[in-house]
Amino acid sequence: MGRRPGSPYGKARGIAGYNGGRFTLPSFPRRSRALVFALCALFVFVMLPKPDIPIGRTFSFFMFGSTVTGSISSGPKGHGMDVLRYVDPLIGTTNGGHVFPGASLPYGMAKAVADTLSPAENAAGYVSDENPVIGFSHMHDSGTGGNPSLGNFPLFAHRGCPEDDFSKCKFPAMERATYRVQGSALARPGYFSLNLTNSVRAEMTVTEHAALYRFSFPGTETVSVGVDEEKKDVPYSPLLLVDLTDLGNTRSSGGVQVYPETGRIIGDGVYSPSFGVGQYSAYFCADFEGAKIRKTGTFARNNASEEVKWIDGASAGFFNPGGSTGAWVHFEQPEKGDSILARVGVSFLSVDRACANAEAEIPDFGFERVQTAAREAWGDKLGAIQVDATGVSEEMQTTFWSGLYRTMLSPQNITGENQLWNSTEPYYDSFYCIWDSFRAQHPLLTIIDPVAQTEMVRSLIDIYRNVGKLPDCRMSFCKGFSQGGSNADIVIGDAFLKNITDGVDWTTAYEAVVSDAELEPKNWGVEGRGNLVSWHELGYIPWNDEDKNGTGPTSRTISRSVEYAYDDFCIANIAAGLNKHSDAEKYHSRSANWKNLWNGAQKDVYLDPRGDVLQSEFTGFLQPKLMDGTWRYHNTRTCSPIHDMHSCYYDTAHDTYEGSPWLYSFFVPQDMVSLVSLMGGPDRFVQRLTYYHESGIAYMGNEQAFLTVFQFHYGGRPGLSSFWAHRYIPSQFNASINGIPGNDDCAMGAFSAFVYMGFFPVAGQDVYLLTPPLFEEVRIRAREEGKWAVIRVRNFDPSYKRKYIQRAWLNGKKYSRSWITHEFFMKGGLLEFVVGEEEGGWGRGDGDLPPSWPVLDGT
Ligand SMILES: *[C@@H]1O[C@H](CO)[C@@H](O)[C@H](O)[C@H]1NC(C)=O
Ligand SMILES: *[C@@H]1O[C@H](CO)[C@@H](O)[C@H](O)[C@H]1NC(C)=O
Ligand SMILES: *[C@@H]1O[C@H](CO)[C@@H](O)[C@H](O)[C@H]1NC(C)=O
Ligand SMILES: *[C@@H]1O[C@H](CO)[C@@H](O)[C@H](O)[C@H]1NC(C)=O
Ligand SMILES: *[C@@H]1O[C@H](CO)[C@@H](O)[C@H](O)[C@H]1NC(C)=O
Ligand SMILES: *[C@@H]1O[C@H](CO)[C@@H](O)[C@H](O)[C@H]1NC(C)=O
Ligand SMILES: *[C@@H]1O[C@H](CO)[C@@H](O)[C@H](O)[C@H]1NC(C)=O
Repeated sequence: MGRRPGSPYGKARGIAGYNGGRFTLPSFPRRSRALVFALCALFVFVMLPKPDIPIGRTFSFFMFGSTVTGSISSGPKGHGMDVLRYVDPLIGTTNGGHVFPGASLPYGMAKAVADTLSPAENAAGYVSDENPVIGFSHMHDSGTGGNPSLGNFPLFAHRGCPEDDFSKCKFPAMERATYRVQGSALARPGYFSLNLTNSVRAEMTVTEHAALYRFSFPGTETVSVGVDEEKKDVPYSPLLLVDLTDLGNTRSSGGVQVYPETGRIIGDGVYSPSFGVGQYSAYFCADFEGAKIRKTGTFARNNASEEVKWIDGASAGFFNPGGSTGAWVHFEQPEKGDSILARVGVSFLSVDRACANAEAEIPDFGFERVQTAAREAWGDKLGAIQVDATGVSEEMQTTFWSGLYRTMLSPQNITGENQLWNSTEPYYDSFYCIWDSFRAQHPLLTIIDPVAQTEMVRSLIDIYRNVGKLPDCRMSFCKGFSQGGSNADIVIGDAFLKNITDGVDWTTAYEAVVSDAELEPKNWGVEGRGNLVSWHELGYIPWNDEDKNGTGPTSRTISRSVEYAYDDFCIANIAAGLNKHSDAEKYHSRSANWKNLWNGAQKDVYLDPRGDVLQSEFTGFLQPKLMDGTWRYHNTRTCSPIHDMHSCYYDTAHDTYEGSPWLYSFFVPQDMVSLVSLMGGPDRFVQRLTYYHESGIAYMGNEQAFLTVFQFHYGGRPGLSSFWAHRYIPSQFNASINGIPGNDDCAMGAFSAFVYMGFFPVAGQDVYLLTPPLFEEVRIRAREEGKWAVIRVRNFDPSYKRKYIQRAWLNGKKYSRSWITHEFFMKGGLLEFVVGEEEGGWGRGDGDLPPSWPVLDGT
């Protein structure tokens, strides 16, 4: 999902978001020449484009099946914990990154952080800016581009109340909002802390389904309460409250209750998703420790009373800045350590479950214990990768590890908390959105965390089983808005090729992707595909289509057409692997539908700043077409950074979504041979791709741009991919607080991580494009027990002047192809490079190019 500065996707839900007090719409050693010859022959055979069969997993496994010797075994122990110091969760908490910087476990449901009142930026709760803090809440999404997500049941802490009267404390979100002490935010894996100007220090850590806060009151007697308030003397007697609101102010019903003897507060609410349709329920259970209770009660807006019974918060709904409703506990001075611990269990099933989660996961209120366990969980995950970072700056290392870290924040593992159906399958939520994540995040998780990726794939299949369609976007148990194709087909196709198979029901998986391809749902704005009758009969989505089968955003005809074509290619791969030959042919044939929107005569015409009509040297772009087959003009640059950047975001009327025809005209990963030919051959193709990156048309802040950095490989110039990767890192992906060029989507860090490691996936294919890693050595834990996939630069240059691969060896054998297959990550092995300052001839021979699967005319 892309960023749209200054304006959240208000249209997404059509209701107001509550923001800033305003409402905004929302390698061959010489062994045997005969062997070399035999391997070359096999290689040439494999490399020949197969005109009518989409090559599936059979070929890829067969290729190097017995030649791989994973010579490297395990590395240093405890490495994962060592690299945690290079994780800075605050990267991307401004400039539209929308990163969640708080405490979380890998894929954790509980995500605790301070929520700031930051208009259009606080999708993940916290923003590095100067806005006040409205509370501390326990569930969030990370890096999304929609409205603020989750943030239910915020806690807030006052050091005391004016005149020692609980009713004089500030209760509603807008009034209790309090500035933070600038520069006080401290974030590390599993831990977050912040000092407020009301003399409260808030620290937090989490388990799977519970957050643990430590509020300390170390300050002076004089504190400022609220944003505009003068400093007042308040007695040291803390009041903690829990509010039923969420970040988007979407609550439509709910209730709260406090138990006077124990101070336990329980409650629930019904809320709306941040980029989708429907509603979800959430439940919490808060307990406190560290001080004696004086009084307890509930509040509605500013009216706090000692009433403790369940109160119905239904009335405090939309458009009501005072819509806060909740419960509070007024404490005596903490007995020891000047702090009170608050443990908040969350659940999507029931209050009882929320309490049980908290009691089971944090029975001891042991802050240090919980925090250490969270750090260890992250250490285990990051331990799948080891690097030799000799000579590489701290900043560069931080960019790498922080990016990797962020790719494991979402989707979230909500297994056991599914409120929609009972199942023995895993349940993951916050696929937000697959349109973003299929390109790099899921391929990365497939390598570094295949167990989690397998569960995610099973979860997607189970969603199909119970909901009827795979999601393109999904959050908070709701259907999210589809942005383009049915790209879960690519995630499932990718999994099929890469042995993500443990417990995967391929029969149902195949049924699911075929359903996307064949059956149009009534509302294809939230699942499946639209305009399918025309897609099947005409082979493209006409600009003026009459879709009688369903409704959805009828614009985006170019971007949806290229994505549907690639989705169909991925389905063809699965069909071929399952020996469904006629299906494989059918879908492979549809994968060529993109050609139907290729207007070879379309010129690239544009206005310069003075209003003169100019034209670049490039001809032939994807263009919209009418039902009768005539062309319609769509400016080739619209919706690129140099022309009407934000005109094709969520509510677009244009034929491309979050990108220009220039960009989408490169999206044919299944058949780059044909595309390169249509663009005038390899040299012209390379000139065009270079122009695209140099002219400002490319925008790296959105995921569709990732592959274009590496497509020089298809023009026989892998060195240029390396050149451009270095152009963007660190200039656009770095360790600054604003170091992400767009919404993170848990995906931006996957792009940078792949560049650092020296390969980039062509998602949906068993193909990784090679560039030199940014470390002297990268070791990736292989699927085969005890083996490692090792990538090493023999003459590494940490200044990156030598950025071009000159020679390569795979397991000691000279290797000239510019790509590798997943076999390397399955069995482990050793890939070595020698790099140089000039581009050189490596990877440039005809047989060295990555594969394509063209559909020949008449098949
Ligand atoms: C935050 O509060 C803690 C506890 O009083 C203190 O040690 C720390 O220095 C404070 N940080 C900042 C930046 O004020
Ligand atoms: C304040 O809350 C109490 C207890 O719920 C209720 O009796 C009273 O009417 C409320 N006052 C106002 C002004 O809403
Ligand atoms: C799941 O099963 C439990 C126990 O039988 C039942 O109480 C609950 O309603 C079921 N949940 C759903 C969503 O069907
Ligand atoms: C997901 O959660 C379930 C239930 O807690 C757990 O059994 C499973 O191991 C988790 N998956 C991962 C990848 O951590
Ligand atoms: C593929 O994965 C399955 C299950 O995880 C495993 O048993 C099998 O050995 C794997 N296949 C290969 C070729 O590694
Ligand atoms: C469209 O609707 C017709 C009539 O209900 C149905 O027969 C056909 O299968 C549908 N086509 C698609 C692609 O969903
Ligand atoms: C870091 O990345 C951001 C976002 O792309 C960019 O605006 C900034 O200029 C970069 N900073 C440096 C020092 O390269």
